[in-house]
Order: sequence, then C-alpha cells, then structure tokens
Amino acid sequence: MSLISNSIQNAVSLLNQDQIIGIPTETVYGLAGNIFSPKAIESIFAMKKRPFFNPLIVHIKSAEDLSTIAREIPQKALLLAAAFWPGPLTLVLKKQTAIPDLVTGGKDTVAVRVPNHPLTLSLLEQLAYPLAAPSANPFGCISPTTATHVAGYFKDLLPMVLDGGVCQRGIESTIIGFENGDPVLYRLGSLAIEHIEAIVGTVKMSTYDDLAPVAPGMLSRHYAPLTTTFLTPDVKEKLKTFPNQRIGVLVFQKGIDDPKIAVQEILSSTGNLAEAASQLYAALHRLDKCDLDCIIAERFPDVGLGRTINDRLKRATKK
Ligand code: TXA
Ligand code: MG
Repeated sequence: MSLISNSIQNAVSLLNQDQIIGIPTETVYGLAGNIFSPKAIESIFAMKKRPFFNPLIVHIKSAEDLSTIAREIPQKALLLAAAFWPGPLTLVLKKQTAIPDLVTGGKDTVAVRVPNHPLTLSLLEQLAYPLAAPSANPFGCISPTTATHVAGYFKDLLPMVLDGGVCQRGIESTIIGFENGDPVLYRLGSLAIEHIEAIVGTVKMSTYDDLAPVAPGMLSRHYAPLTTTFLTPDVKEKLKTFPNQRIGVLVFQKGIDDPKIAVQEILSSTGNLAEAASQLYAALHRLDKCDLDCIIAERFPDVGLGRTINDRLKRATKK
C-alpha cells in the first residue's frame, strides 16, 4: 500500500524529485505532479491509464498566480475567480506558452483552479511550481474521496497519499470555458450553476458529444461502479421488475422497506443536496464492494447540486 501520511515535508521532497503523490482537495483526491516535469506528468497518465489527449487541471495557490498560467483572461473569468477561489470551480482559458503541451493535451487552452484544502494550499505555498492533478482514480473508475480509496486503487505503485481526511464536497469541480468572453459549462460539478449565474449571468450549456467531447471527462461512461447500475424516479416500482436478487439501493432522503434490498445507502436524511453530493462517491464505493447483482439509484431533484448528482448517476449506469 502507498504510504498514507499527513507530512507536507515528505510530500514536498517527493514532488521535488519528480515523483507523483495523492493529494486531498475539497472535491476529490488528485494524483499530483510538477507541471514542468515531463517525468512526473508522464507517470500521471501511465498510472491512471489515461489517454494523452485528455488534459489535466493545473492547481495554483492563489488567483494572483493566474496570469502566469493563462493569457487574454475574460472579465467574467476574473469575476468568477474572485468569487469562488479557493473553491470547486475550474476555468478553461487560453494558455501561456510556458505551460507544457503534455499537461494540456496539445490544446491552446489550460484548465486551472485554486483548490480549497488547507493541507494542499500549504503544500502549494512550499513548491516553486503548480501541480497538475487529475482525480486519483484509474480511468473510468469512481473518483476517490478518502486517502484510503486512493491507496486502494494504486497500491504500492504510488509512494505517498497526503492524508487530508474526507473530501468535504465529494464531487469534482465545475468546469467553465469561455466563448467570446461568455461562460460555457463544460462539466457539472460541486459548484451549482445557479451560484455561477448569480455572478456572471446565463451560462451556456455545452451539448456534449461522446465522439468529440469538449472536456473528455464528459465521455458518457465515466465515474462508474463495476456493478450494473440503474437510475429511476421510482425505486419501489423498479424493484418490482426484479426477481429475488441481491439488490443495493441508493436514495436521497427516505429509506425503502423491501426484502429484496440487501444494502441501502441514504445520502441525506435531512434532504440536503450538498450533504448528498458529499456522500455520493463513498456510497458508490461501498455498494460496489457488496457483491450485489445490481444497484438501483433514485433520481434526484433537477436543481442545484441535484443536477450534478443526476449527471454522475446517469454516467454510472453506462457500460
Ligand atoms: O475537482 C476536480 O476538478 C479534481 C481535483 C483533483 O481538482 N480534478 C479532476 O480532474 O476532476 P480530472 O482530470 O479527473 O478532470 C479534469 C477534466 C477532464 O474532463 C479534462 O478533459 C478537462 O478537465 N480539461 C482539462 N483541461 C481542459 C481543457 N484545456 N479544455 C477542456 N477540458 C479540459
Ligand atoms: Mg476524473
């Protein structure tokens, strides 16, 4: 198993030696390396088994560093950075020439954010470079929200996971790009669109296309448990269509009484969408380990973080 530790000093020393490590953020854990080290960046792609065309997010310590990463920054991007950084918002902007092609998948744009986690912010303070970090899961698997998830995925291939506890948000950052200075949604995430629209007005929804996704994380099968998963507005009705099987159920607020249910995950008994979002991946991880015939998930209300949860659940149903 990789070493799970909260030593920032260890983390700094490994990163300075072109190694990669697991890092905590408020969204999910990342697999981090020096953006200027080809060795580190290549290891990230190799360890995740991720195709090179799928670019990485650059993590910086403060919005003040943004101009060293991006150029021709639209006014609305600056407003969003001021409102939400550090926080779960990634901006896709024109890149500075110093940003290596390996990090951006050869694109002329770069994805960048300031993560909101005290350990990772102090780690970034002590480094002379930003960190490229995709979510710390093998390509196509559920993103990790604890250090143990990360260590479980990569075993001793990874020298260290910086342990920052359970991720507070629990779902990846929201990704926003720009067209003629106006915001376009590339990926639903932990920051609700309603909050973004309150600052910069209407956000255009990019209609995603599996063959040419804007953000390759939008590939439709992504974030998926190994167990066959169904998404339905009515779990009780769906249960009737199954004979006696071992079924796992994932619901928002209210438990369901049915002898076919072997395991049940209730994401927020008080009906709080932020709490439900923070529990989603950990619940899917647990259900996936229960040797179930299938998982039946309840559709969430289509507002705020409910939209993000439905987006991830939809992807979890794809095989
Ligand atoms: O919350 C998060 O965003 C986490 C934590 C670790 O920060 N990171 C994360 O990274 O989710 P990853 O690599 O799993 O997802 C990043 C997404 C991918 O879908 C990638 O295609 C997209 O960002 N992306 C990166 N650079 C891009 C660019 N220049 N243009 C469009 N999409 C980009
Ligand atoms: Mg990911």
